[in-house]
Amino acid sequence: MGRLSRFPLCFLLFAAPSIALAQQQPSDEQIEHRVNEILGRMSIDEKAGQLTQAAGNSPETLEKVRQGKIGSLLGVLGAKNANDAQRVAVEDSRLKIPLILGFDVIHGFRTVFPVPLASAGSFDLKLIEQAEQVAAKEATSAGVKWTFAPMVDIGRDPRWGRIVEGAGEDPYLGSQVAAAKVKGFQGRNMADPDRVIACAKHYVAYGATEGGRDYNTVDISEKLLREMYLPPFRAAVDAGVGTLMSAFNDLNGVPATANRHTLTEILRDEWKFQGFVVSDYDSVHELIPHGIAGDDSEAALEALTAGVDMDMADGDYAKYIPQLVQSGRLQSSIVDEAVRRVLRVKLQAGLFEHPYADLGREKTDLLTRESRQVARKLAQESLVLLENKGQVLPIGKDKTVAVIGPLADDKASQLGPWAGNGQAKDAVTPLEGIIGRLNKDRVFYAKGVDIPPYESGLAAGVAAPAPSTATGVRGVETSKRPANIEDAVKAATKADIVLLFVGELAGMTGEASSRSSFDLPGDQMKLVDRLLAIQKPIVMVIESGRPLDIRWAPERIPAIIQTWYLGIEAGNAIADVLFGDVSPSGRLALSWPRSVGEIPTYYNHNNTGRPSSPDRWHTGYLDQTSEPLFPFGYGLTYTSFHYSNLRIESPIVSHDGTLQVSADVENTGDREGTEVVQLYVHDRVAPTSRPVRELKGFERLTLRPGEHKTAAFKVLANDLGSYDSQLKWIVPAGTYDVWIAADSRSGVHGTFEVR
Ligand code: BGC
Repeated sequence: MGRLSRFPLCFLLFAAPSIALAQQQPSDEQIEHRVNEILGRMSIDEKAGQLTQAAGNSPETLEKVRQGKIGSLLGVLGAKNANDAQRVAVEDSRLKIPLILGFDVIHGFRTVFPVPLASAGSFDLKLIEQAEQVAAKEATSAGVKWTFAPMVDIGRDPRWGRIVEGAGEDPYLGSQVAAAKVKGFQGRNMADPDRVIACAKHYVAYGATEGGRDYNTVDISEKLLREMYLPPFRAAVDAGVGTLMSAFNDLNGVPATANRHTLTEILRDEWKFQGFVVSDYDSVHELIPHGIAGDDSEAALEALTAGVDMDMADGDYAKYIPQLVQSGRLQSSIVDEAVRRVLRVKLQAGLFEHPYADLGREKTDLLTRESRQVARKLAQESLVLLENKGQVLPIGKDKTVAVIGPLADDKASQLGPWAGNGQAKDAVTPLEGIIGRLNKDRVFYAKGVDIPPYESGLAAGVAAPAPSTATGVRGVETSKRPANIEDAVKAATKADIVLLFVGELAGMTGEASSRSSFDLPGDQMKLVDRLLAIQKPIVMVIESGRPLDIRWAPERIPAIIQTWYLGIEAGNAIADVLFGDVSPSGRLALSWPRSVGEIPTYYNHNNTGRPSSPDRWHTGYLDQTSEPLFPFGYGLTYTSFHYSNLRIESPIVSHDGTLQVSADVENTGDREGTEVVQLYVHDRVAPTSRPVRELKGFERLTLRPGEHKTAAFKVLANDLGSYDSQLKWIVPAGTYDVWIAADSRSGVHGTFEVR
């Protein structure tokens, strides 16, 4: 089923004053009392109904809500629609248990923020939290009380289209971002009318999918699972996340949606998670093709007993739980426990007291000036300056520019995949942002080429804009002909500087959007080559959901910016940076591979017995270096920073002590700038090989020209530890390296001992 067909996107607005009062939190005891009281009155059909989520609000679906056979709906948008559905549950069903209404608010609801891979690169946790707070406010105004976010999957393989939905490759950054997002969504009390229940997904190891093919098999060691893929989920749980979503993939042969080890032993027994787990879309039913259930009844039994409390979309729980209990194959206590978890979250979210959305808040709370400001700031901080030879950037406002490329004026692609209820018309394109900055007779625009959709393979049918002419922007000199390279060359010839916007359409990233090559799709490379021949300075701005293959670029193109997809304020934020009103400060939340062949590329790899070296008999390739094109944590600014004077408070850290380390950072350039100062450690000798570096802290420091500040970090000794081969957490005694650095490859270095 196509994604869009799942969601009725009707959106009706009603005017009424909005009241957003903070809610009283009932005590745990009060909640348990209510849960048990409700549970005691439920039939087995109603219990199965509470564990069932359906997509949409068709009359048939609402009839089932009335019968108590559905406890949650997905994709019902608009306060009126939400309230109409809710009314059926709260007024017409026997037990009057409210629905919980969910939707994918992944990087904004109507105000679309940068995609998660981009915003993680801001390393600005406060701003990330603030963006989710805006998203929660907007979503609740439209009746959504539950978001299927944050997506906290670690991604090391950019072939996987969903790498764009997460915070990149690092478990420490991923954990910090996960916690910030949970706080932003849920606030202190998720019952507050402007907060949503968060859902950490996809549990777990979805990002380790073989070959980067979406939904594919995952086979990894328990140690890697615990050290790499579980930490962001643990951080979300510790931050109080209300729900988790089980993943599509199998993990070491057992699908994540039927994996008792991860869902119950780790999540419940070890981490004491109190919320509930929802399956992914149809993933209960998919236990059949996975080959671990013979039919849907068995699939329901496997998923529920493993620890999946709510079934998304396929209806297996509603249909089979009653029979399974009656036949004695399923203990009713397991059903009761799952229902308790769902009811508990509904009570904590205040749904019984306030089941309805305030009609009228859609008028006041969507797409406000303030929320656009947050989107612009986050976009400014998320884009990454990769190259700036000869200081081509920033551009003087007295220059003429040629704005070229298929993404320069594509509104939909600015939003990126999973754009919530975002509307392309709200997006500011780079061309519009640039025209807002320069007198329009200084701007020459030509699209150059269209990006065609893929015609075969999994990506068949990805949305591509219809081939277009290069017109459409008032006042800018354009051609009326279909996009063509000659017009681009003409525009470039007239200008002082060429601003070239290339990359992937948003529809080429996200779910079911894996790619086997990272070329610029279509004829974009031809366009690049023709423009290079003109010998004008080029600034290449890449909009994409993955690091593309641009090995050729640093040698040939003086300035390169990676924007990912920056959301509705993309064009303004890009113009802010191009013309120097803002100095770039975003960093790469993943290592940038040179070629697809070297994937997975990640900075926190083990050393091997033959560490990488130019010498042949060492790990690496004959035909290319194994260094990434750009390392994790990398990103330039318009100034330069110098690191010095690494100081370790005490060179000996006890097992229950704290590492305290600092360094001086000086702005040695002539502009103000923000540096993302990063702390890395390496345990030299441990029972298992340890990564060459592991991120353990970061701080954004803004410095005026000539100014220097101290970046100081504290790390608990326990957080320096690792799992031994018996999966026991230990903090090995011995020597550790420490760096305070601008990225995962550089920095000032010291050592300390753990004893
Ligand atoms: C995706 C989830 C999403 C769900 C509901 C699934 O296809 O994998 O991330 O939350 O659909 O839209």
